[in-house]
Amino acid sequence: MNIMLDASQIQRRIVELAAEIEADYPPDEEIHLVGVLKGGFVFMADLVRAMSARVTLDFIAVSSYQQSTRSSGEVRLLKDLDSRLEGRHVIIVEDIVDTGLTLTYLQDILKARAPRSLRTACLLSKPSRRLVDVKVEYIGFTIEDKFVIGYGLDFAEKYRNLPHLGVMDEA
Ligand code: IMP
Ligand code: MG
Repeated sequence: MNIMLDASQIQRRIVELAAEIEADYPPDEEIHLVGVLKGGFVFMADLVRAMSARVTLDFIAVSSYQQSTRSSGEVRLLKDLDSRLEGRHVIIVEDIVDTGLTLTYLQDILKARAPRSLRTACLLSKPSRRLVDVKVEYIGFTIEDKFVIGYGLDFAEKYRNLPHLGVMDEA
């Protein structure tokens, strides 16, 4: 496994992203982050700790990959939110946008719940893989078409706990 981004590079970028997000909303207004399980949990944990006390959070779980490195194109909702989104500033927090199918699905179902605003923050983006044009307001790093693991991202449910982002060896 080769290291693509080490833990300190990721941390530095997240601090920048957090500042960028905070500056985009009026200081007295709450920001509700919706983390996408499972891959987004590490990014979510670091992002909220780089933000101020006006942040609230919840998690949603979807499944798009069936133990392979190829997307099936099918998205299933596995766990819904605990809280209502109506009238709130909502930001989807996702690990990576690849084909864009997962995010398109999430944006559609969350938009239907009438949030005051809806934006998306992704740690990683692989634009060369996009199948649908999806809007992502905050992107940590744009990367080439490599299957990455670590920092929340898995291969067959493993390696989510790596503190850095690595590239799988070619089989
Ligand atoms: P999309 O629907 O194709 O955009 O896929 C998004 C989801 O696929 C992400 O939330 C990840 O869970 C997973 N995924 C996409 N690319 C990678 C990767 O390089 N490593 C691990 N998981 C990935
Ligand atoms: Mg994911």
